[in-house]
Amino acid sequence: MQAKAKYRKDYRTPDFTITDIFLDFQLNADDTLVTAKSKVKRLNPQATELRLDGHGMELVSVKLNGHDIEHYKKDKESLTLDIPQNLTDFELKIQTCLNPAKNTSLQGLYQSGEALCTQCEAEGFRQITYFIDRPDVLARYTTKITADKKAYPYLLSNGNCIAKGNLADDKHWVEWQDPFPKPSYLFALVAGDFDVLEDHFITRSGRDVKLELFVDKGNLDRADFAMASLKKAMKWDEERFGLEYDLDIYMIVAVDFFNMGAMENKGLNIFNSKYVLANSQTATDDDYLGVESVIGHEYFHNWTGNRVTCRDWFQLSLKEGLTVFRDQEFSSDTGSRAVNRINNVKLLRAMQFPEDASPMSHPIRPEKVIEMNNFYTMTVYEKGAEVIRMMHTLLGEEGFQAGMRQYIAENDGKAATCDDFVRAMETASGVDLTQFRLWYSQSGTPQLTVTDDYDADKQCYRLHVHQFTLETADQKEKTALHIPLKVTLYTEQGKPVMLPNTDTPLSEILNVTKAEQTFEFHHVPSKPIPALLCDFSAPVKLTYEYEVSQLVTLMKFAENDFIRWDAAQMLYNKVLRCNLKRYGKNEGFVFPDALLNALNWCLENAKGHESIIALLLTLPTAVEFAEGVDQIDPTAIVEIRDYMQHRIADALKDNLVKVYRELKADHYEFNQQAIADRALRNACLQYLALLPMGESLVTRHYFEADNMTDTLAALKAATQGKCEAAEVLLTDFEEKWAHDGLVMDKWFTLQATRPDAAALTRVKNLMHHRSFSMTNPNRVRSLVGAFSTHNLAQFHQKDGSGYAFLEEVLEQLNASNPQVASRLIEPLIRYARYDEERQALMKAQLEKLKKVDNLSNDLYEKIEKALH
Ligand code: ALA
Ligand code: ZN
Repeated sequence: MQAKAKYRKDYRTPDFTITDIFLDFQLNADDTLVTAKSKVKRLNPQATELRLDGHGMELVSVKLNGHDIEHYKKDKESLTLDIPQNLTDFELKIQTCLNPAKNTSLQGLYQSGEALCTQCEAEGFRQITYFIDRPDVLARYTTKITADKKAYPYLLSNGNCIAKGNLADDKHWVEWQDPFPKPSYLFALVAGDFDVLEDHFITRSGRDVKLELFVDKGNLDRADFAMASLKKAMKWDEERFGLEYDLDIYMIVAVDFFNMGAMENKGLNIFNSKYVLANSQTATDDDYLGVESVIGHEYFHNWTGNRVTCRDWFQLSLKEGLTVFRDQEFSSDTGSRAVNRINNVKLLRAMQFPEDASPMSHPIRPEKVIEMNNFYTMTVYEKGAEVIRMMHTLLGEEGFQAGMRQYIAENDGKAATCDDFVRAMETASGVDLTQFRLWYSQSGTPQLTVTDDYDADKQCYRLHVHQFTLETADQKEKTALHIPLKVTLYTEQGKPVMLPNTDTPLSEILNVTKAEQTFEFHHVPSKPIPALLCDFSAPVKLTYEYEVSQLVTLMKFAENDFIRWDAAQMLYNKVLRCNLKRYGKNEGFVFPDALLNALNWCLENAKGHESIIALLLTLPTAVEFAEGVDQIDPTAIVEIRDYMQHRIADALKDNLVKVYRELKADHYEFNQQAIADRALRNACLQYLALLPMGESLVTRHYFEADNMTDTLAALKAATQGKCEAAEVLLTDFEEKWAHDGLVMDKWFTLQATRPDAAALTRVKNLMHHRSFSMTNPNRVRSLVGAFSTHNLAQFHQKDGSGYAFLEEVLEQLNASNPQVASRLIEPLIRYARYDEERQALMKAQLEKLKKVDNLSNDLYEKIEKALH
C-alpha cells in the first residue's frame, strides 16, 4: 500500500502540541533505547484522539501521566492514543528501541562510519520516537546521551551542554539543553570520535560564541577553510541583514554518509563531508566555493528556517528559497558577483527548467505531496531563490531589508507561511505584490518573446513583449505573471545608450504584467541593440531574433559581464540549432567565422576579465545544449558539440597557447585573481587537448600540477579529449587517492562521463572498485548519477542498455536508500524529451520498476506521475 497524497489546502492546526521534551538515549550502534518524556498540551477541546507519527522502530512502552497505556492503535505509520476530554495538559513517556547500524536510509538515527548521527528533516524524527512530527509543533528540547566512552568520546546535541558525568563500565553521559523552542526536524544528535577545530566569534553586541568543527580523525588539515567561511558568514549576516547569532556555541560535524548537502539543526549543523573538507591538494576551486556557500547557507538558516520556521512542508521554499538567496548574496558580496550569477543561471537552466517541464513540475510552493523528500528540488530551492531575488529587484535593497525586519519581528519563534513573508515585504515597502504572488502557485517556466521597432524621426524605440507559460503536468491553466525585465540598450558600436544629457546608461526594469505589452524608450538616437534580461532579472526563457553580429557586439563590449556571457550562450545555441538542421539532412557542419573571430578577440583582451572569458569560452555542456531543443537527439548534440570544440581549438590555437603559457603560475595561491587565472588557463587546456600537441600538454599539466584544480583539469581534458594519455593519468590518480572516497568521487565522475562507447561497461565494472560503495550516497551519485545525468550520448544509447542498468541500480537502492534512488530516477521520468524508440525503452524500465516489491513512496510518486 502506498501512502496517500497530502494537499496544501487541507492544512489544519494540530489538536495537540508538545511544549517540552526530555529525550534520553542509551546509545549503542545496534541497539539504542530512547525514552521520550513530553509535555503535551491540548489545543482543540473537542479532540479525543492523539495521533503520533512513527515508523521503523520497536515500541517498548507508553505511559500517560505515569500510568501504562495498554489500549492504543498502532499501524506502520503511527500510534494513536485515546485522550479523555478533561485532560488539557499531560505527560507522555514513550520508550522505543532502534537499530542505527541497520538504518541504511540515512534518515532518523543512523551509523556513518564509526559515528552515530541523525537526519530529521523532513520527517526523520518519527524514526526516533513517536511524536507529532510536523514543523508547527515547537518544543523545548533537553537531551541526555549515555554511551561507551571509548567508542563515542563526543556526545553532542542541540543547544548548550548543561551537565556531564562518568558511569561504570566505561560509559559516560552528557546532557544538552536548547533554550529555543524548535520543530522536531531541527533535532540533532552526534556521537563519535573526532578531531576538533576550535575557534570563536565575537558578535557585534559583544557576545563570545564558541565555534567547533568536528571532522574524522586525521582530517584537521582540511578543516581551516570551512571554519574561516563560518566566521565570514557570521560577520556578513550581521552587516548585510543585521542578524546576529543567538546561542553560546555553534558546532559543525562532517560525516561521510549523508543524503543531502548539509543540515541546519539548531546549534549543531551536520554536513556531508564534501562541503567541509578542503585543502589545495584535495579540493578544486569550485569545491572551495561550494564549501563556502553551504557553510553560509546552513548558518543563515539560523534565522531563516530556525528562528522563523515553516508552518507545514508545503512552505519549504519559505526557508529554502530565502536562504539560497541569502547564500548567493553572501558569495556575491565576498567573491565575484558576475561569476556567481552566471553559475546560478547555468544551474537553473540546466536543472530547474527541465524539472519544471517534467512530470515532477510543481510550483515553488507545491500543492500536493506524497513523499516530502521528493520536494527538496531545484524548483523549491533555486527557482524559490529567484522569486525572492525578483522581490529584491522590485523593492530595492532598502525596501527588501525593511521587509526582512518586519518578517522577522512578526514571526520570530513561530512557524510561518510564504504568504506571511510576502505580506511583510509588501507592507514594509509599500510595493503591491498582488499579482507577483502567482509565482508561488504557478509552475512552469514562463516564455517571453520580444520584438521591437524603431522610429528614427521620433527617436523612439519600442519593445513588444509577449509572455506565456506552457501547460505543465500538474497544472493546465496559466495566468500572466508579474515579471521584472531588466533592459539596457547598446549602440551598433557596442556603447551603452545614455539617458539624455547625462553619462548614466539607460537601464530600466520593465514591469511585464500582461500577456502582450509594449514599452517605449525615448531619445534613443539610433536603432539600438537591446540587452534583455540583464543579470537574469527573472527565471524565464526569452527569445529575441538577434543577428549574429549583434550578439557578437554584446559579447565583446557589453559592460555587464552577465550580458557578455549570455550573448555567447545565444551564439553557441544558434550554431547548435543550425547544425542540428544540417545533421538531419546529412549536410556538413558549419561555424560562423564572425564568432570565431570574436572568441579570438576575447582571448586577446582577456586581461582583467579572466574568469568571465573562461566562462564565455567554454561551450555549454551537452546537457545544457539539450535544454534548448525541442526533441533531444543525444548523438547529434554530442557530435555537433564535438565539432564546435574542434573548430574553436583550431581557429584559436595561437591565442590559446599564448594565454595558456602566460597564465602559468609560479606557485599556488588561493585568491580571486589566482582562481580566475587558473580557470582561464584550464579552459584553454580543454581546447588544446584536442590538438596534436594535446597528448604531451595534458601529461605535463597533470604532472606539474601542485593543486587539485589543475590536476583535475588535466584529467578532464585528457578524458573528454579522448587522449591516449588518459589511462596512465587516471591510474596514477587512482593509486594516489584510492584510500580517500571524497577525492575518488572526482575520479568516478571522470570515468562515468568519458565519451567513448565503453562508458557503460566501465561504470558497471567500477561498481566493484575498492573505493566504491553502494551505501555511500556520494559514491553512488558520482558514478551512477554522473553517468545517467551527464553522459548524454552513452546513457541514452539506442539499445536501451543505459536505461536497463539504471533500473537495476534503482531496484537495489529502493530497498536500501529510497531518497537517493528517487534522485537518480530523474533522467528516466523525463523520457518525453526523446524520440519514440527511446521513450518506449525508458517507459519499459519504469514499468518494470513499478512492479518491484515494497516500492518506496519516493519512487512510487515519481513513477506514477511519469506513467500517468
Ligand atoms: N535543510 C537542508 C538544507 O539546508 C536540507 O537545505
Ligand atoms: Zn537549506
